[in-house]
Amino acid sequence: MTKITAAITAVQGYVPDKVLSNADLEKMVDTNDEWITTRTGIKERRLAAPGEALSDFGVKIVEGICSKRGIDPTEIDMIVVGSITGDYRFPSSANIICDKAGCTNAWGFDLSAACSGFLYALDVGRVYIENQTHKKVIVIGADVMSSIINYEDRATCIIFGDGGGGVLLEASEDGLGIQDTILKSDGAGREFLLQEVGGSKEPLRPENIEEKRHYVFQEGKTVFKHAVKNMAGVAAEIMERNNLTSDDVAWLVPHQANLRIIDATAKRMGVGKEKVMVNIEKYGNTTAGTIPLCLWEWEDKLNKGDNLVLASFGGGFTWGAIYLKWAY
Ligand code: UT7
Repeated sequence: MTKITAAITAVQGYVPDKVLSNADLEKMVDTNDEWITTRTGIKERRLAAPGEALSDFGVKIVEGICSKRGIDPTEIDMIVVGSITGDYRFPSSANIICDKAGCTNAWGFDLSAACSGFLYALDVGRVYIENQTHKKVIVIGADVMSSIINYEDRATCIIFGDGGGGVLLEASEDGLGIQDTILKSDGAGREFLLQEVGGSKEPLRPENIEEKRHYVFQEGKTVFKHAVKNMAGVAAEIMERNNLTSDDVAWLVPHQANLRIIDATAKRMGVGKEKVMVNIEKYGNTTAGTIPLCLWEWEDKLNKGDNLVLASFGGGFTWGAIYLKWAY
């Protein structure tokens, strides 16, 4: 029997129009363009319009995918959304996207894995395609980080931005698509990057809002050390496990959290800068959105059969790598 693999057959990104530059941030907190650029590689990021929610990003992504692939939204079987900034705590944004985009035959759910949300969601989609219970699965990674960022906290507001993207997964009989996945997590890292208040542990109360603990907290240095070690480590591990040399890798598609983490990962893999997708300067860290945004921006440079290594590290801690062969 022919082996079925899950292949990406369309990709679509979305970022809101409003730009927040380093110069804008200089007027808001004690920071400067030189510090942000040298420490992170970020020059600007995008911000959602007032009232623009995650599902609005998702609808644009689904519409783009359907139009590119020439299919009707009713043909979609499932939508999985990797995100930590859904419209509501419940219902899931996947439900809302299905409704608003007219995916009346699809079911779906949201998946919380912070910056690894897209990779986790992509692997979930893979399983449904490989099992042949679903023919067309849309996997979205997107975040409206501005909804949970404190724009008085220079430790976080300079890093994060809004945006995301998604892919359509369909069955391939030619061995294209997802080849291997390594996903990991370590909850011991939770205290270093989290939204402390607003969950069941400590529900929103006037006093904790007053203390501004309902925003993202990050202990950057600790997260940085773990990110370098683990993102580089897992990317190297997936290469070894699949006997891939650096020459075999056409593109590294890294989570865009910090240019220094991306450089360390590429170095560990032995992959030259010319093979690394980097757009952090334009969008900052869009959490689950970074990897599909890269795929979208590089789509016309990708060739059928290209070996891509996707790698991420983020809150949780969560991290992982996916090795895939581009299918078109
Ligand atoms: O995507 C999810 C995973 N997240 C990540 O991977 C992020 C990992 N962490 C990082 O990228 C980096 O740790 C940051 C970019 C967040 C911070 O860079 P850093 O090189 O670790 O800086 P630091 O926090 O050690 O701060 C160095 C100095 C400090 O001053 P002193 O104590 O040396 O005088 C900070 O107070 O820089 C100061 N500082 C700033 N200065 C200007 C901290 N933030 C800023 C700022 N502007 N925005």
